[in-house]
Amino acid sequence: MKRTVICPGSFDPVTLGHIDIISRAAKMFDKVIVAVLVNSSKKPSFTTEERIELLRKALAGFDNIQIESFDGLLAEYARKTGANAVVRGLRAVSDFEYEFQMSLTNKKLNPDLETIFLTSRAEYMFLSSSIVKQIATLNGDITNFVPECIHDEIKKRLASNV
Ligand code: PNS
Repeated sequence: MKRTVICPGSFDPVTLGHIDIISRAAKMFDKVIVAVLVNSSKKPSFTTEERIELLRKALAGFDNIQIESFDGLLAEYARKTGANAVVRGLRAVSDFEYEFQMSLTNKKLNPDLETIFLTSRAEYMFLSSSIVKQIATLNGDITNFVPECIHDEIKKRLASNV
């Protein structure tokens, strides 16, 4: 049986922290579906298409990673795609409560679905899409926070929002 895992998120935009978790998941599973949430209550800065395109560029070297968008419940999306598990990165204790709640909810909605947490690498413990956006819009250096191949695109896009 093929083991398929979903890496869900807003990816607004993708950071090196996300890439680290996704690439580690790609080593553990046969197939990884990177699922970009369409209707986030967070009101994304990048459109769904932009977020997908950035992910495509950043993950171009992997042949077992598929990038898609999803709407509605993650538990239903997992059922539809035949995924056995969801992978989430855990950065700090502050992530835990929300992640635990999400994991338990998803398990109730889809008992076949497991949630696997990967510990963030120490250098990305503080990193988030919001931090990247904040720094970029204030003309700061985001070189160490986003993949090199999409650095200029993110900078340009966010700078135009100032
Ligand atoms: O990158 P994020 O914003 O932390 O990702 C959050 C995400 C997309 C994983 C989460 O909001 C989600 O799964 N949303 C879909 C709606 C859903 O299934 N809700 C019930 C479980 S809490």
